[in-house]
Amino acid sequence: MSDQYVFLSNDDARELARLEMLQSVHDPMTCAMLARAGLRPGLACAEIGAGAGSIARHMAEKTGPGGRVVALDLDLRFLGSPGAGDFERRQADILDEAALEPGAYDLIHTRFLLVHLADPADAVRNISRALKPGGVFLAEEPDFGAAGSGAADGEVRGAVHAVNAAVLAMYGDAGRDPRLGLALPALLRAAGMEVVDSEVAAPFAPGGTQIALMMGASIDHLRPRLVATGRANAGQVDGYCAAAGDPGVWAAYYTTISVAGCRR
Ligand SMILES: C[S@@+](CC[C@H](N)C(=O)[O-])C[C@H]1O[C@@H](n2cnc3c(N)ncnc32)[C@H](O)[C@@H]1O
Repeated sequence: MSDQYVFLSNDDARELARLEMLQSVHDPMTCAMLARAGLRPGLACAEIGAGAGSIARHMAEKTGPGGRVVALDLDLRFLGSPGAGDFERRQADILDEAALEPGAYDLIHTRFLLVHLADPADAVRNISRALKPGGVFLAEEPDFGAAGSGAADGEVRGAVHAVNAAVLAMYGDAGRDPRLGLALPALLRAAGMEVVDSEVAAPFAPGGTQIALMMGASIDHLRPRLVATGRANAGQVDGYCAAAGDPGVWAAYYTTISVAGCRR
């Protein structure tokens, strides 16, 4: 259910910092994929689960005055004030069938949204319905099953592995799929789309880099839920967060799977 989105309870400054790190890690790949999907002047686009809005702003810049961009999110805290930036801000739940107008969009994008939903297939159906025939949906979701630590210290490695196991259990216990990226081709095809493009990004990075700090901040916020799974204790969560800030500890945090589908 949307009201259980796990970062809604994060305080403003911490959540904005987390979203900005997410953007700095993933925007280059997303912008390249959007270019491949045909982002250009005059298109009608939607960014669903827009977060802090960097991709909505990028879409608005590329579509220009003859285009149209809707940035939709449950939570508009980080999308700037109305009038700032040339796109519509829409507070809505993508699981609501009325969130998007049918047959209205040339290009729709989501990133790290579907993994948070109880029924991602419903959201993908709503998105497919909102595309014009021939319109493209670019979906980017994680595979947390691909996480692992390269720490030389066995205790640090054990802490990171325990937290990674807790992340998988937390999503699973809540009825979410922590490896949702892998399911994207099937989800898009079931909603009437043909898969036309795909990529995987699998960063292996030292502590202190943006992906490591972003995951450290995410894990710190999720601490009570992770400990409640029984797979990691508070000390192991502290160990994960310390490793995420330590340039001497390398880790694979998750992979991101990007899949584009064209509505038939
Ligand atoms: C992990 S953030 C990702 C933000 C952005 N897509 C990015 O990658 O930078 C997930 C975003 O989806 C939004 N969200 C979660 N559930 C939603 C729903 N059911 N409908 C619309 N937005 C939702 C959250 O408020 C949040 O802004």
